[in-house]
Amino acid sequence: MSNLPHDSAHTHVTGRSEFVDDRAYHSNELFVDVLYSPHAKAKIKKINIDKALKSPGVKGIFLGKDFHHNIWGTIFQDQPLLAETEVNFAGEAIALIAATNPDTAAAGKALIEVTYEVKPAVLSVQDAISQESFIAGSRKIERGEVEKALASAPNKLENSLVIRGADHFYLESNVAIAYPKEDGQIEVHSSSQHPTECQHVVSHGLGLGSKDVTVIVKRMGGGFGGKESQAAPIAAYAALVAQKLNVPARIVLTKDDDMVMTGKRNPFEVFYNVGFDDNGYITALDAKLYSDGGAYADLSTSIMERAMLHSDNAYFIPHLRVTGQVCRTNYHPHTAFRGFGGPKGVAMIEKIIEEVAHYLGKDPLEIRKLNCYTDEGGRNVTHYDQVVENNCLPRLLSDLEKESNYVARRKEIEAHNAKALVDRSLPLKGLSLTPVKFGISFTTRFLNQANALVIIHRDGTLQATTGATEMGQGVNARISELIASELGLQRSAVRMMPTSTDKNANTSPTAASSGTDLNGAAAILAVRRIKMRLSELALKLFDIPESQWARHTAGLGTQEEVEVKNAHLTNDPNEGAEWNSGIAEYHGITFKEGQVFSAKHPEKRMTFHSLVVEAYHNRIALSEYAHYKFPGLSFNKLTGKGTAFLYFTQGAACSEVSIDRDTGEAKVTRADIIMDLGRPINEGLDLGQVTGAFIQGMGWVTTEKLFYKNGFLLSHAPSTYKIPNIQDTPRIFNVRLLNNNENKPNVRGTKAAGEPPLLLCLSVWTAIHDAMKGLSPFKLKYPHMELPATNEEILKAMHPELFKKWTKK
Ligand code: MTE
Ligand code: HPA
Ligand code: MOS
Repeated sequence: MSNLPHDSAHTHVTGRSEFVDDRAYHSNELFVDVLYSPHAKAKIKKINIDKALKSPGVKGIFLGKDFHHNIWGTIFQDQPLLAETEVNFAGEAIALIAATNPDTAAAGKALIEVTYEVKPAVLSVQDAISQESFIAGSRKIERGEVEKALASAPNKLENSLVIRGADHFYLESNVAIAYPKEDGQIEVHSSSQHPTECQHVVSHGLGLGSKDVTVIVKRMGGGFGGKESQAAPIAAYAALVAQKLNVPARIVLTKDDDMVMTGKRNPFEVFYNVGFDDNGYITALDAKLYSDGGAYADLSTSIMERAMLHSDNAYFIPHLRVTGQVCRTNYHPHTAFRGFGGPKGVAMIEKIIEEVAHYLGKDPLEIRKLNCYTDEGGRNVTHYDQVVENNCLPRLLSDLEKESNYVARRKEIEAHNAKALVDRSLPLKGLSLTPVKFGISFTTRFLNQANALVIIHRDGTLQATTGATEMGQGVNARISELIASELGLQRSAVRMMPTSTDKNANTSPTAASSGTDLNGAAAILAVRRIKMRLSELALKLFDIPESQWARHTAGLGTQEEVEVKNAHLTNDPNEGAEWNSGIAEYHGITFKEGQVFSAKHPEKRMTFHSLVVEAYHNRIALSEYAHYKFPGLSFNKLTGKGTAFLYFTQGAACSEVSIDRDTGEAKVTRADIIMDLGRPINEGLDLGQVTGAFIQGMGWVTTEKLFYKNGFLLSHAPSTYKIPNIQDTPRIFNVRLLNNNENKPNVRGTKAAGEPPLLLCLSVWTAIHDAMKGLSPFKLKYPHMELPATNEEILKAMHPELFKKWTKK
């Protein structure tokens, strides 16, 4: 395990990292602007581009008809690249303006005349349900006899929860540059989590074979799921202009346009009936999830599936039925966002736990511990029939309870709140401890594959590429560390090259937190193939006097060549590796600190570099390509049963909040986190992911609220959309990783870190409720708020009467 900084840290902080828009301009390059609909739903009666075409600097205007195929979509192809006859959301692209610079493009855009016939739009989940405006069918995952168990439950609760969306707020907006190349080829530089998807959308849209479209992603300035699917049409816009006008074309969305045009985290509305006994054991849950998919399918059905698969979170619920339906509305198509559907499923069950505890007058932590998955009594199987292996949840809960000093602080907070109820100038305080269990794998089985290319150059330095894309999470640092350590080299010996579809094809998005798991394993398999050959060569070289080595003799051909076998490897990146180091050894040859040693000749050694030189002169291949797939996945989408995940990343957070009773402002004053990340490759990077995800999640559950007017996003800038800043970081913030050496299925025993810690933000949301529980209206009824619990939402819950005149009937 290392603690090296991010491989781009030094170029990031000195401003020398190259992002797409940092690429130098070509003298003939054009800038592309996008005209989009201001209406949520309308018929397009006429588009007049005559005046705009004559505007100074405008070189071309393109409409839907200019695409070879004007259609795209990751799961269902249901979305036009450019709307032609109707628009279905405010922000939907209609026309591309290619001009000499952003100003001439904007001037030309203003002269395009679109005549709309505005139609009634579906602008809420409720409206969509009543109009049966749905995307795809309803899904169900069920175990046990829910009706019977509910009927016989000693206690029952019925409630609902409104969960709002959130913007990804990546710092780099969507961007692409397309270069026309020889013989009709196009090269696109994109900020995308999914270069292969961009390649497919560009080639389909432009009527080219994939062989003629290369998509390159060096890095993103953040993606967070927002660039899993929605970067693709942006790439296609630049590519269309490049193809039509035969010049480089650059599109760079402004923050405002990016926020208006692109989809967000899916809003959800959930309804549930829960049955439980007097101890607090949950015996039955019947949950109905509805999500707002926006105008087009995008990834929403898959997001819903993950929500359904996470409606249990850390708890064994013997009789559980969850149904899911994606609604079609007239908002931007909602999409992947860190956690995918997971945070929505977990928000529901954590709220349920809180309500059960409140009803029984118990501490919610007691209910959590009671219902937690355990290896005892068969309470370790999920509602989709996957066994929860390597279950750290009970340990996480009890360790964190102790380390956060939960019991003593609970008492202090109770005493404090008793005073605050009398003295309004004191804030209300709340405390909550929530766990997370997050399944690692794409729930769509075929996506769980990756490939890697590893090249050793003759000077002993390496280059590697995989299908993984770097968005700040450190996937390149981790993969280069895996490769380097396998060969006993420093990480600096390995350069990760830009992700490019001409080197790694048919790749999956870097998503589902599986970037390192999949691509790192492929890279290990590739490097081990070379290592096997090098090890066999080294074994033989140690028996040959150095004067006869090929570096001295190959030019003359005086010695016979050393031949080595092309050994076979299975799909298992841990096979043949000593578990504790994760490093494999062949022929008793060890690679360490740039040197190569033999068990047979402990007194001898050679440098890695000289071994590589020998390999070259003996005509032994120094490059390798490997493919890897997660083993053992059996989830069947039709039955809703099977092993959906390779393993579960787990964790727990304990958050304390303080609420100002006059402004409703909630501050997180302390957070303690323990995260089970198996055996990290790079602890520093992982801690960065944990803290970053937690704080990003805090934004979603507290201050980040999207305001729309007639379906048009009004809060499309940081002035009106409040993400957490450095001041919002909990003043006391203790984060540590659990020591877990047992995650056998994954490469080197690591666990994915990207998304799971985001779900720990729900401890903040439940702590806010906890702070309010002592107020008289909530003594009997648990506080009812939407997620996020904004200042306004908190005040509204405390003083519904004051808000009556603003609340819509
Ligand atoms: N970290 C940074 N700095 N920037 C990002 O955009 N995206 C998150 C997470 N961490 C993101 C990030 C999301 S949504 C995912 S799925 C994972 O990184 C993807 O990368 P990984 O699979 O390599 O962890
Ligand atoms: N997670 C993230 N992205 C995805 C998934 C998933 O499970 N499935 C398809 N894209
Ligand atoms: Mo992450 S939401 O899976 O890109």
